[in-house]
Amino acid sequence: MDLFDKLEIRSSPLGPFTSDGYGYYTFPKLEGPLGPEMKFNGKDVVVWSINDYLGIGANEHIRQVDVEATKKYSLSAPMGARLMTGNSDEHEALERELADFVHKPEAFLLNYGYQGIMSVIHCLVDRNDFLIYDGLSHACIVDGKQLAMSETSVFKHNDIDGLERQLKRATGRMKPNSSILVVTEGVFGMTGDLGKLKEIVALKEKYDFRLLVDDAHGFGTLGKDGSGAGTHLGCQDGIDIYFGTFAKAVALIGAFVATEPRVKEFLKANARSQIFAKSLPLPIVATARERIRLIRENPQWREKLWENTLKLRNGLKEIGYNVLPSESPVTPVLTEGSTELAQTIMREMRDKHGVFVSGVAYPVVPKGMVLIRLIPMASHTDAHIEKTLKAFEAIKPIVYQNVDEGVTA
Ligand SMILES: Cc1ncc(COP(=O)(O)O)c(C=O)c1O
Repeated sequence: MDLFDKLEIRSSPLGPFTSDGYGYYTFPKLEGPLGPEMKFNGKDVVVWSINDYLGIGANEHIRQVDVEATKKYSLSAPMGARLMTGNSDEHEALERELADFVHKPEAFLLNYGYQGIMSVIHCLVDRNDFLIYDGLSHACIVDGKQLAMSETSVFKHNDIDGLERQLKRATGRMKPNSSILVVTEGVFGMTGDLGKLKEIVALKEKYDFRLLVDDAHGFGTLGKDGSGAGTHLGCQDGIDIYFGTFAKAVALIGAFVATEPRVKEFLKANARSQIFAKSLPLPIVATARERIRLIRENPQWREKLWENTLKLRNGLKEIGYNVLPSESPVTPVLTEGSTELAQTIMREMRDKHGVFVSGVAYPVVPKGMVLIRLIPMASHTDAHIEKTLKAFEAIKPIVYQNVDEGVTA
């Protein structure tokens, strides 16, 4: 059978939803300057679906830095992978600044978070090793597992006893040259709860393993200095490889891992996604440096983000919504229903109330569940929050149409 003919009949998790909902539920186009108010289908909407947590995307100074850096370097430079012709003083300076920010000796830049973390997992463990990861992990960790030659196992989300059982099992089967890598997240991006990092680090007293933490949503938003979930939970030292992306709080592209010097040296020579791919363009690196500097020097942005998060979350709770015990700015609203309900909620909110929210149903969440995820930003105002809460108040009968006893908060 022709491969392309087969693709037409091969089922995908989202199925016809991807094409039928094109431009609305999938691939929607938010237009106008980045920020909490944008245009969707020509209409003004308050946006709760972009990960620009600190509102950096609309920062005038940063926009200027972007222009100047592009003028100075061009978007083409440097050409080549870093190992060959794509290195620069700016790249190395950014790595030093990132390491300093997250309290690690070294940092190693990655072109994209997704490919980067896959590649890091791939090159860290070999066929003698054991890879153990949290069951709610992001797709990039799951895909990293596919590349890894090691034996892999999953522990139930944040189930420390389950993790300990896996550690015990792996430890019992280790050969002299076997090692264990545990992977989890700082903030789980859909539900907003934190990885049980402190408890996992404590297990190092009993078991010999290294810990990799994907802190995509925690980097820049958590910890009193913004250095992430490890600092927030008081166990940054116990994280052996800390991963952060620029795709959220830095409102950019690119990512990094921070770790000890010998691991960085190994990654430089072995991380295939970096060795065989063009390095980050210089303007991206230059603006990343300035953005990191600003994030460090403006703790009030983080404070405002948290103020907005609490106002939104408490408001939703008062109306009677189930916002889960989220411990980060990620604000989920959970209800029961199907993809159709998720679509209805999005349509009502966007078209009737001018509030852009995104929602997911099975297979992203278990069957029968609908999760609407709101991402507060430091740039949201009280008026945006009030408008959103009013809209949620108005659509409550629709959201809970499948729930017998009112609300499950
Ligand atoms: C938890 C998590 N890890 C990794 C990534 C991938 O990062 P990037 O967008 O930089 O590829 C994302 C999404 O962006 C994420 O949410």
